[in-house]
Amino acid sequence: MVIYFSGTGNSKYIADRIAGSLQEKLLCMNERIKSGNTRSVKTGENLIVVVPTYA
Ligand SMILES: Cc1cc2nc3c(=O)[nH]c(=O)nc-3n(C[C@H](O)[C@H](O)[C@H](O)COP(=O)(O)O)c2cc1C
Repeated sequence: MVIYFSGTGNSKYIADRIAGSLQEKLLCMNERIKSGNTRSVKTGENLIVVVPTYA
């Protein structure tokens, strides 16, 4: 699974590319933070975290 946070879209672009080429699921942290969703996530064997430098 690829988990990402993106403010202006750069990290989203990279996360999309990584998830696409590795055939991994994609999870957007922005949506979960905004909705207050703190439930656990089943990531599978691989976990890739994509965030901007400021994060
Ligand atoms: C408040 C803020 C602080 C940042 N600090 C850094 C930094 O210290 N070093 C750096 O290389 N980029 C820094 N950046 C640039 C972002 O990391 C960069 O533009 C990134 O690609 C933004 O990703 P996003 O489009 O997924 O939000 C900063 C950007 C912002 C808005």
